[in-house]
Amino acid sequence: MNFNLTKEQEMVRKLAQTFTANEVAPYAAEWDEAASFPMEAIRKAGKLGMMGMPFPRNYGGAGADYLSYIMTIEEISKGCASTGVIIQTHCALCAWPIFTYGTEAQKEKYLPGLLSGEKIGAFGLTEPNAGSDAAGLQTKAVDKGDHWLINGSKIFISNGAVADVFVIMAMTDKSKGTKGITAFILERGMPGFTIPKKEKKMGISASVTTELHFENVKVPKENLLGQIGKGFKVAMTSLDVGRLGIAAQALGIAQGAFDQTVDYMKSRKQFGRSLNKFQALAFEMADMKTRIDAARLLLYKATDRRERGLPSTVEAAQAKLFCSETAMYVTTKAVQFHGGYGYIKDYPVERMMRDAKITEIYEGTSEVMKMVISGSLF
Ligand code: CAA
Repeated sequence: MNFNLTKEQEMVRKLAQTFTANEVAPYAAEWDEAASFPMEAIRKAGKLGMMGMPFPRNYGGAGADYLSYIMTIEEISKGCASTGVIIQTHCALCAWPIFTYGTEAQKEKYLPGLLSGEKIGAFGLTEPNAGSDAAGLQTKAVDKGDHWLINGSKIFISNGAVADVFVIMAMTDKSKGTKGITAFILERGMPGFTIPKKEKKMGISASVTTELHFENVKVPKENLLGQIGKGFKVAMTSLDVGRLGIAAQALGIAQGAFDQTVDYMKSRKQFGRSLNKFQALAFEMADMKTRIDAARLLLYKATDRRERGLPSTVEAAQAKLFCSETAMYVTTKAVQFHGGYGYIKDYPVERMMRDAKITEIYEGTSEVMKMVISGSLF
């Protein structure tokens, strides 16, 4: 076991910290208030290699390891959880399945644009009647000889309104259950592919979440991703990577709220002394710090297993479960410790608490994480 970062990992973390301090954190409240997508920051992240971090250089990636990627999401999410999830959805749920399952032609066509951040990626699995029960999807793809014809719809798609490239799961043979699902690469602008509704959300307001509609969308044969009937595996293995990213986002939110609270407690005086002098509050801070550090260890361990090519589905689920619950725990306390100031938008902990909630829900709820973890026990 080695708990030290390499020189390269330290450099990546420093870069993410500087980028967050200069390009992300100062604007996070404004983006949240206006629910505006931080396109300029995303383009800058692309120039710094952050939209293609754990991918090889020959496709335009940064050639970094998974831990560098995870630390980047964590650092950015300290300043703005929306920016964190935009990058993680793009990397884990669109670029990753194309890199892992794509043909050489697909990789050459899509990866350079995605990994440089010139193009943005999204992932379509969830449907109105297929949330946690992902295998219940009803979007249909029919083989028409020289193309596939896709009909159906998706909901809650992160990056939906701004994405150029989409990895979409559709049913090609309902009688085969999970083995009847196939993955496809769709592009914005394909006739019949529309993006009708942008959701209004409790948090992560600067990240766009939309519906996708497919009405007789003709998808070229060469856009099939992986093999026919292997789409559920494409989705689940992508989510294994995605869950590490959401855990990192949650950890960043928790650490960000914790840091804000430490500063606040030192400066805020009540009953003639600063808040950190009240032992009841200081002990709660000790609990928060311990949970954050434990969450980070779980996440980095799961990330290390992925890096080494070891099974990491269960570890990723544990990391997501614990990091997201830690984010909710810490941000709720952070708001409480800020008192009335915590409830108004002048302080970032209000936004952080709203942002934290979704980490217990998307890319698999806490209950789904428990299904994955408990399923490995028996
Ligand atoms: N890796 C590889 N294979 C996997 C796998 C994984 N992580 N998980 C399951 N599989 C395989 C199984 O081995 C099994 O294969 P065999 O049939 O060959 O044995 C097959 O897939 C079916 O597995 P299950 O029987 O376990 O499938 P299930 O229908 O019971 O579902 C589940 C299990 C864990 C609940 C799954 O449906 C799930 O993860 N649901 C949550 C979906 C989710 O996370 N949705 C979020 C979408 S993205 C999002 O949030 C929006 C966004 O844009 C950010």
